[in-house]
Amino acid sequence: MCDEIGVASVEQLISKAIPDDIRYDIRPYVSRVKGETETLQELFSIARQNEVFKNFIGMGYHDSHIPPVLIRNVLQSPQWYTPYTPYQPEISQGRLETLMNYQTMISDLTGLPFSNASLLDEATAAGEALSMSLHQKHSSHDVFVSELCHPQTISVVQTRMGALGVHVHIGDHNTFDFTNNPVRAALVQYPATDGSISDFRELREKLTQTKSLLICGTDLLSLTLLTPPGEFGADIAYGCSQRFGLPLGGGGPHAAYLACSQDLIRVLPGRIIGRSLDSRGKPALRMALQTREQHIRRERATSNICTSQALLATVSGLYACYHGKEGLVSMATHVLKQNFALRTCLRQLGDQIAARTFEASPHLPVPKGVFEVVHNDNNVFDTTQVMCGSEYLADKVIKTAAEHRMNFRRYSKESISITLDETTTMDHLKTLVYVFAEAYTSGDPDADLDLPDIEKIFGDLTNEEVAYPEPFNRKSDFLSHEVFHLYRTETQMMRYLHHLASKDYGLQTGMIPLGSCTMKLNAAAEMLPMLWRKFGGIHPFAPPEQMQGYRQLFGEMETMLATVTGFAGCTLQPNAGSQGEFTGLMMIRKYHEQRGEPQRNICLIPTSAHGTNPASVATAGMKVASVKCDPGGNVCMADLKEKAEKHQENLAALMITYPSTHGVFEEDIREACDIIHTYGGQVYMDGANMNAQCGLTSPGFIGADMCHLNLHKTFCIPHGGGGPGMGPLCVAAHLIPYLPTHSIQSPVLYDKLSIGAVSAAPRGSASILPISWMYLKLMGMQGMATASQIAILNANYMAARLKDTFPILYTNKEGYVGHEFILDVRHLKKRAGVEAIDIAKRLQDYGFHAPTLSFPVANTLMIEPTESETLSEIDRFIEAILQINEEVKEIEAGVYSNTDNVLKNAPHVIEECISSEWDKPYPREKAAFPVDSLKTKKFWPSVKRLNEVEGDKHLKAKRTPGDLAWLPDA
Ligand SMILES: Cc1ncc(COP(=O)(O)O)c(C=O)c1O
Repeated sequence: MCDEIGVASVEQLISKAIPDDIRYDIRPYVSRVKGETETLQELFSIARQNEVFKNFIGMGYHDSHIPPVLIRNVLQSPQWYTPYTPYQPEISQGRLETLMNYQTMISDLTGLPFSNASLLDEATAAGEALSMSLHQKHSSHDVFVSELCHPQTISVVQTRMGALGVHVHIGDHNTFDFTNNPVRAALVQYPATDGSISDFRELREKLTQTKSLLICGTDLLSLTLLTPPGEFGADIAYGCSQRFGLPLGGGGPHAAYLACSQDLIRVLPGRIIGRSLDSRGKPALRMALQTREQHIRRERATSNICTSQALLATVSGLYACYHGKEGLVSMATHVLKQNFALRTCLRQLGDQIAARTFEASPHLPVPKGVFEVVHNDNNVFDTTQVMCGSEYLADKVIKTAAEHRMNFRRYSKESISITLDETTTMDHLKTLVYVFAEAYTSGDPDADLDLPDIEKIFGDLTNEEVAYPEPFNRKSDFLSHEVFHLYRTETQMMRYLHHLASKDYGLQTGMIPLGSCTMKLNAAAEMLPMLWRKFGGIHPFAPPEQMQGYRQLFGEMETMLATVTGFAGCTLQPNAGSQGEFTGLMMIRKYHEQRGEPQRNICLIPTSAHGTNPASVATAGMKVASVKCDPGGNVCMADLKEKAEKHQENLAALMITYPSTHGVFEEDIREACDIIHTYGGQVYMDGANMNAQCGLTSPGFIGADMCHLNLHKTFCIPHGGGGPGMGPLCVAAHLIPYLPTHSIQSPVLYDKLSIGAVSAAPRGSASILPISWMYLKLMGMQGMATASQIAILNANYMAARLKDTFPILYTNKEGYVGHEFILDVRHLKKRAGVEAIDIAKRLQDYGFHAPTLSFPVANTLMIEPTESETLSEIDRFIEAILQINEEVKEIEAGVYSNTDNVLKNAPHVIEECISSEWDKPYPREKAAFPVDSLKTKKFWPSVKRLNEVEGDKHLKAKRTPGDLAWLPDA
């Protein structure tokens, strides 16, 4: 490989690819554990320190039975967890379908016509919902948030709205004066955090008068029984589908959702899957309305969200398919009945206590509120708030519960709350009743309470008795589509999953050389711990003493990531790169504010930057000033200097990706950092390309002030077909005071300066951190340095072998690239009418996933092989590109026309290749088996090229009856 590149050794290549002044002489140290077995053992000894109690904490997180068929065939299957976001729909129809199922489920349950294909968590989804209201014409700049939303939702919303200068009124929707304080939107929760269910019809009327949106947080299981928000006039519904088949996982990853009315579809954030047609006119799925997204609209995008929670949305949607409407209704009714029975028992205990006290001291007033259940039975679902009458007794209840390995929520000084879920058993209920009685009687040796017989009470309850009265009882049908009926047995579900997976190209199929995405190996040993109960069974708000294992893991991760990036501090709260960007920018704002320079709000961004950068700047309430790139693809230093000087009064930051999104280690990066610092700004490094830096240099060493990491790129968390991700942010010492905290588990130390909460859970998606921990410990700093070297070697080898066929758009002065490079195919349009997209689709015929298309330069291909690919796979890809070039030459030579050739007609699907009607000017063999190796191993795209316009013109983002026509085995 070195010969091909023209260097004597890998070390020489690295010295030519990376500027001298930023290469480590001595790299910082991250230790490694030798071998997969030993590393797993060490992680197990950490995990063992976590204590898994039965959780009744609620607050949007519930235990769930994950159907084993989904664990084995989805969560543990590389076919599902390794694919990328479905930007190439012809080889992604499987997960596009499961995401469409998810959207259909959300739309049906919420009663709103459109849903996206997931967001990051419930609290950020609430923030996104409020941001949607900011895109509407309205004279008010305020929003209202009910005090009965989950506290973590309120915190995140305050951070997000605060960034945009939007005033958040927090209060009681019944008493708030909406007439005199008009708001753009009111955000309420149904059922609320205290378990209560309100009738929002009157609120809807008030909001209609002020032309304000009604946004409703919801719980999916309850909506199988309750009137859905869409039917009482909500414009937007949001929530989290965690209880549909996902582990608690210390807070995530889980799929949040956002559904909206027809009027709001153009401002709905995140990915939306829609139905379109392929070039044969057959129905096919694709990501719709992408013109809203930041890779097109940049700072004018509806949101900065990019990676979301595709894999988790897939599981939740499939959970609904597996249970069907009947299963879910029966589950919800069971939970509701259990809650009724529990409430009856607690009331009986309360009555006994009142009677005993009255007997003992008839002259004293009967004590109020000992085990008094709050709200009417008709106004709750799975949660009961219980007044304990005193702080002492509330403490006692919590303590007694802990002795029985149960966690309750401390709702207020004198009250606790209990939330039930599908995993609650009769034994749990008996223990719950016992805990209350025991808490009361243990302090009083004379006390004697009869334990109510909860089993009998539960057994005597009928469905009719617990059914909701008007206006809460759901009458409308849901999940009526065939997909929610057909796969209710394990055999059917297994086959459905296998069928869908066979349509999707993941790393188990071949190379995914997507530039900027780092589609590297997600090693099985790294993946195993994620589903250990000791990680998965932990509630994010469990008491700290039960999370000792997690705490050690968090500490070690923060230290290792800070070391790798060359910084002093790290937060694990942001749950995607976009959220790391938002967090970092908010911290920069706060830093300037604290230094008496609140006017610093301009962020310089090179034109080559990823779309999330400008979109995050807008989300953080700052402004973008673009910096040009020079003809060599580098940031134009003269322009950078000019812009920094011009904006010196208001300069907040430079956001820069390194190596650049053009695939080059720019020479002047240190100078760029110095210029920004001279004019008072901070340097934010986008760490998406960290796979080229680890162990060789670092953002801190280069001179940046902070950087986010995409753990789902460099640090091996699989991409899941579009998420989960994790976007920790590492920062220099002077920025540590501004790191996010969390209202529920805050380290308080720096509370005053902190920017607040940015995710629902204190450590974002905690249960996938073990994946990156495994990687870091298996590699150590030395191993990561080798990985970076090999990634750079592979990219340079490919560039060297391809450069005589297609120009490499940008290299450094010495002619080398970093860990990725741009193949310039723009000239082919003139020569043969061929565009980058044609090559991308033709690569599917050769059994490859296309490189990144048209980013950062339109009509080019950006290739990133990563260190995980073998030489033979890399050579196979090179062979494919060279052969495609021969096909282009045939068009040029007039053998085939510009419009009817193997490239324009790509990809070729099996039906057309074996059909008796073959009307193409080239043979079938050329279409399907352009190289011999394909005869032994061939991946067939399942649909032909998608019609992009049709799908957006007539948006169909939900399954419709009979559409199973596109499912041949149904
Ligand atoms: C350069 C760059 N920055 C930021 C992001 C956004 O990260 P995420 O998708 O995790 O939000 C990406 C994602 O592809 C990227 O390539």
